[in-house]
Amino acid sequence: MPVRPIRWKSGLLDGCVELIDQTLLPGKLVWLECRDAETMFEAIQVLRVRGAPAIGVAAAMGLVLAVRNAPENENGFFDALSKARDYLASSRPTAVNLFWALDRMVARAKSLKGRPVSVIKQTLFDEALTIQREDANMCRSIGGFGAVLVPQSATILTHCNAGSLATAEYGTALAVVYTAVEQGKKIQVYADETRPLLQGARLTAWELQQAGVPVTVLCDNAAGWLMQTKKIDLVIVGADRIVANGDTANKIGTYSLAVLAWRHNVPFYVAAPSSTFDLSLADGSAIPIEMRSGDEIGRPFASRVVPDGVPCYNPAFDVTPAELIRGIVTERGVISPVCRERIREVLAPSQTN
Ligand code: MRU
Repeated sequence: MPVRPIRWKSGLLDGCVELIDQTLLPGKLVWLECRDAETMFEAIQVLRVRGAPAIGVAAAMGLVLAVRNAPENENGFFDALSKARDYLASSRPTAVNLFWALDRMVARAKSLKGRPVSVIKQTLFDEALTIQREDANMCRSIGGFGAVLVPQSATILTHCNAGSLATAEYGTALAVVYTAVEQGKKIQVYADETRPLLQGARLTAWELQQAGVPVTVLCDNAAGWLMQTKKIDLVIVGADRIVANGDTANKIGTYSLAVLAWRHNVPFYVAAPSSTFDLSLADGSAIPIEMRSGDEIGRPFASRVVPDGVPCYNPAFDVTPAELIRGIVTERGVISPVCRERIREVLAPSQTN
């Protein structure tokens, strides 16, 4: 059974969201109960729930938590909804799925203006569960399209965690791995540890081990040597935001990996659902890159590794130029070559801005 990191337990008014607290993996598997928007905000901000599609699902559910007890008069309700939307949207800046999900929820509510507020609340609850269900379906389709690119026997390198834990279930980059394995292909995965928060070492290795897929962890700085000395058939990673020309923001270190893959002639793929595309931005220079606390580098997991007083540079994401990406695997097919025209063609008609 694939891991499902987010679940809504019980009904709209008496229920809560349960999340796997990913900061505690792989040591402990603990479910965190969220009963209000503040708990959800904190969970997103400190990466208890993380990964672009999972952040979108969590934020949609967080919005439901925020407004389920909001005033029953229309003005009061929409005022509370707008404030909660802006609050949750300020939790992290880069993954566009966060804004996509929140704005979809608000648009759904607005489409029901004039109906009783209790009906709007129930509809928002249904919409959040629909976003979750749709994400799971998109991940399955990504797996199907991506597995075609994987040879019968393959060694695959990945970065960060773009697996079940980062989505409603099944993953994006790892959906390709899971599907290839289900098809009987012989797969070996190398997972970059992904400094500073070790999503590769802690999360990708954990979920692949749970699924019985052979995985080996390497330091991020061993990736070049790995490509030089072993046969890596392909690199596949997830994405936090893909813009109109195909430039792709993903976990810091992805760009270095893409350059290495180009140098060693290893195909470099991105896997992401349509909800990760932001066609309102022309190129990657406009993507907001989250800067996180230097303590994540200087004092990782409560142990000091950088002298006190020395600043640490900690961008959480980087941007890989489209020209380094062999293909983008979406739920609607593979975008290749990665260019503005092909992106529009594959994503049409839902994304036309
Ligand atoms: O900071 P994180 O752990 O949220 O970063 C996650 C990533 O960079 C993932 O690769 C990306 O969100 C895709 S998840 C399917």
